[in-house]
Amino acid sequence: MPFEGKLALVTGSGRGIGRSIALKLASQGADIIVNFFRHRESAEQTVKDIEALGVKAEIIRANVGDAAKVDELFDTIGSKFGRLDILINNAASGVGRPLMDIDTKAWEWTMDINARALLLCAQRAAKLMEGRDGKIVSISSLGSRFVLPNYTVVGVSKANYTVVGVSKAALEALTRYLAVELAPQGICVNAVAASAVETEALKFYLKEGLVKDSRQLTPAGRMVIPEDVANVVAFLCSEEAFMIRGQIIIIDGGTSVGLFALAGKGE
Ligand SMILES: NC(=O)c1ccc[n+]([C@@H]2O[C@H](COP(=O)([O-])OP(=O)(O)OC[C@H]3O[C@@H](n4cnc5c(N)ncnc54)[C@H](OP(=O)(O)O)[C@@H]3O)[C@@H](O)[C@H]2O)c1
Repeated sequence: MPFEGKLALVTGSGRGIGRSIALKLASQGADIIVNFFRHRESAEQTVKDIEALGVKAEIIRANVGDAAKVDELFDTIGSKFGRLDILINNAASGVGRPLMDIDTKAWEWTMDINARALLLCAQRAAKLMEGRDGKIVSISSLGSRFVLPNYTVVGVSKANYTVVGVSKAALEALTRYLAVELAPQGICVNAVAASAVETEALKFYLKEGLVKDSRQLTPAGRMVIPEDVANVVAFLCSEEAFMIRGQIIIIDGGTSVGLFALAGKGE
């Protein structure tokens, strides 16, 4: 069990990809702090599922976009555990409007949750990781470097990825700077960037024909699933990944490198 005796905080791990990451780390022996913001029931279910794997789980509510709440989150971890081995910066949100309609409120909401949270969490986590070979992994997306098409969201309206893409670019730059600054403290910092992930919600929209099926555009022949992301994150948290620093590992089944070869195939 590579993570036996380790303590991991996974932000936004009540559901979706964060939940898969939490379960993966737990299956390899880590105790998990499940952070959530709005959906307590999902987070409680994740805690139960983690405990069923024979490790400990703790639930802490915090809006990671709120600096005071991040402080409270880490104050709680500090007083209850006094240590942290792994920080997974997964929680994300965003305003899906064209850039011409992004006001300062939409910008700050998105940037604070998706990018500033890594800075604030890393600052506090680094102290709890002293002498513990800490690992920090963030979840980014292809929208950091490519302009993604509009996507369908709940309520079946079209949304723009714009400001979320910008926030993910900031997250990735922060990852590189943190990797160098925290290396002397023995902390490894990396990120993964996934293409569209086949979550339960997406499966429903695919079935109803409400989003375009991108399987034909993926050289690997299927969409990315949450477990694909969790597997790479777990690897980056392992000692085998010790010499990987400040990298953004793309998980997209070859979509981004096969763009030209596959052009027209999805029509
Ligand atoms: N889904 C994709 O296709 C895809 C592709 C590439 C990258 N990603 C990235 O993967 C990560 C997870 O995505 P997902 O699709 O699993 O997300 P999701 O289903 O939309 O869930 C978002 C998660 O983040 C939490 N969260 C949102 N705002 C928060 C806040 N202010 N403070 C704390 N927690 C907050 C939510 O908790 P509550 O439910 O409790 O509010 C939830 O657990 C994100 O960083 C996302 O950008 C996703």
